[in-house]
Amino acid sequence: MEKIWLNEAFKGEVPNDFHGKVGWASPSNIALVKYWGKKGKQLPQNPSISFTLSECRSETFIEFEKAEKFGFHFFFEGKENPAFGAKIEKFLLDNQVFFPFVNQLDLKVESRNTFPHSSGIASSASSMSAFVMCLMEIERSLSLSKGRPADMSIQKASYFSRLASGSAARSVFTKMALWGATPYYKGSSDEYAVSLADDIHSVFKTYHDSILIVSGETKSVSSRAGHALMEGNPYAPARYAQANENIKNLLLALKLGDLDTFINITESEALQLHALMMCSNPSFILMKPNTLNLINEIREFREETKIPLCFTLDAGPNVHLLYPEQEADKVEYYIKNVLADYCDRERWIADHVGDGPKKLL
Ligand code: PMV
Repeated sequence: MEKIWLNEAFKGEVPNDFHGKVGWASPSNIALVKYWGKKGKQLPQNPSISFTLSECRSETFIEFEKAEKFGFHFFFEGKENPAFGAKIEKFLLDNQVFFPFVNQLDLKVESRNTFPHSSGIASSASSMSAFVMCLMEIERSLSLSKGRPADMSIQKASYFSRLASGSAARSVFTKMALWGATPYYKGSSDEYAVSLADDIHSVFKTYHDSILIVSGETKSVSSRAGHALMEGNPYAPARYAQANENIKNLLLALKLGDLDTFINITESEALQLHALMMCSNPSFILMKPNTLNLINEIREFREETKIPLCFTLDAGPNVHLLYPEQEADKVEYYIKNVLADYCDRERWIADHVGDGPKKLL
């Protein structure tokens, strides 16, 4: 794949009058089977599966014009943000072979998130995939200006997003995505994610994810450091074997609409992710007391009401409450009356499975 995209990269002279503005929105995603541990150039140690979200998005615009040399400015929510800008600039420089044309461009990037800044929700999946969509759009107009065919293939978008941030590879697909090679899914790859939209029961196509904000603080371990900690973790081999087993069983449960298996695997994966962090060296505890209170509440509520809701966690204290659309009224009533008390300033975000990136300009 790499070779095809290398050959396709726009390598010619950028026309002198080349300028414009592109814009894309791209969603965040929540993993059910987690990617935790990487190898090589941003390749996963095990496959992962996620829901693409809808309300939690990054909206990114790039203004570009022909320049003598590469110029880059990054603004986040109206203010220049050199720290985040440096991360994107590094991605561009490290992957120049794919985007050689940027060396002849001045880029002004503006990005914002639709979710609150202090919600503790990781934004690298949404922001990096939105950035990649914009970059591909610029290349597309360059190619068109030279009368060349232009490819906006979703696989290419996933491949480039992966190079920027592993989990971003999954954000470009509608409904659900699988990233990582597995014998249980034809066409799966470590290099890019694939869509699961045609292989899931209808109940999952409208699934809800209510994000219960336990703390809006930024995490105390970056995902880069977290992945690296897996290298010396004595439980790593067992973890990767278990993740592969979970992928096999979850793929079947998704197809059949088997909610019991879905719940079992999803909750076990969330707790495993945190268990791995706790037994790494140095170790991290990212759950807060209210994370555990919420988990206990959710499990009791499920037991009492038989409503098939469950939780998952990202690398932080916030709880993602997952449930079928048809239970939404009852669960939202329960959130407002019970679970919100455990949230930071009673904050929670009502999200649901969504349709992937959208062109804004
Ligand atoms: O994409 P990264 O490098 O930020 O890693 C994401 C890791 C988790 O969010 C914890 C799990 C996942 O699969 O999204």
